[in-house]
Amino acid sequence: MSVLTTAPRVDTNKVIGTLLSDVTLRDLDDDGVRQLVDLAAERGVLFFRNQEMTLAEQVEFGSRLGELHIHPAAKAPDGYPEVLLVHTDENSRYTAGDGWHTDVSCDARPPGLSMLRIEQVPSAGGDTLWASMYEAYETLSPSFREYLSSLTAVHTGDLAYRGRYTKDDRDTEYPTNEHPVIRTHPISGRKALYVNSGFTQRIRGLSRRESDGLLKILFDHIAYGVRFQTRFHWEPNSVAIWDNRCVQHHASWDYFPETRHGYRVTTRGEVPFQ
Ligand code: SIN
Repeated sequence: MSVLTTAPRVDTNKVIGTLLSDVTLRDLDDDGVRQLVDLAAERGVLFFRNQEMTLAEQVEFGSRLGELHIHPAAKAPDGYPEVLLVHTDENSRYTAGDGWHTDVSCDARPPGLSMLRIEQVPSAGGDTLWASMYEAYETLSPSFREYLSSLTAVHTGDLAYRGRYTKDDRDTEYPTNEHPVIRTHPISGRKALYVNSGFTQRIRGLSRRESDGLLKILFDHIAYGVRFQTRFHWEPNSVAIWDNRCVQHHASWDYFPETRHGYRVTTRGEVPFQ
């Protein structure tokens, strides 16, 4: 079965996000999976409803999207090292992804696709928002884009993980890597803005004040860019698959003290290039 030729689709925003109906991910053939990967590179994030599956089946399907990534900080569910547990309840002090970010951009080869399946939803809220980094790039003025294209930025797991997943991680070294501020998507060939408030610490070669000021401009551009954002309301067994090379996302923690529970698998991407 192939996604593009048979699935009814609704775009959730003109430039980002597509909801595909009548698709059972587990039944997709190789051609369907290839089309899904290409569509994710174009639309940024794809949504599916009613995707009941076991953890083993999610890992199985995720590995058809690419080599699976192992999270550098979070403890995985027993027997599933490639799975990130996404769980928030009345005892939580934070929720994963509560702020604009791309997944694990501190890695040398940061994630390509992420696949999140939510099993338990709160009575209201718990949505996730995504923003297109193609559009974030394209809506900057040409001379600013040209300047940004000459820059690299340092991304570090310290910002997102220190003190979060284990109480005492004083001796833990989280990944720190440098990536171009503007990257080119290997499938679409389009340029995308690649700094995020979750992991990007500083711009290489600028003073602290210049770097903080420039990052603030870019983070605000993303956060206020409502015309290139989309928002998804989860139902039990909804799935979102997004391409971290060209989108950022933000999980909304507006349901405390209720519980939201799900699982993410993520593919390893390539070394970002301009
Ligand atoms: C994440 O992958 O950052 C979590 C997103 C979410 O829980 O909606």
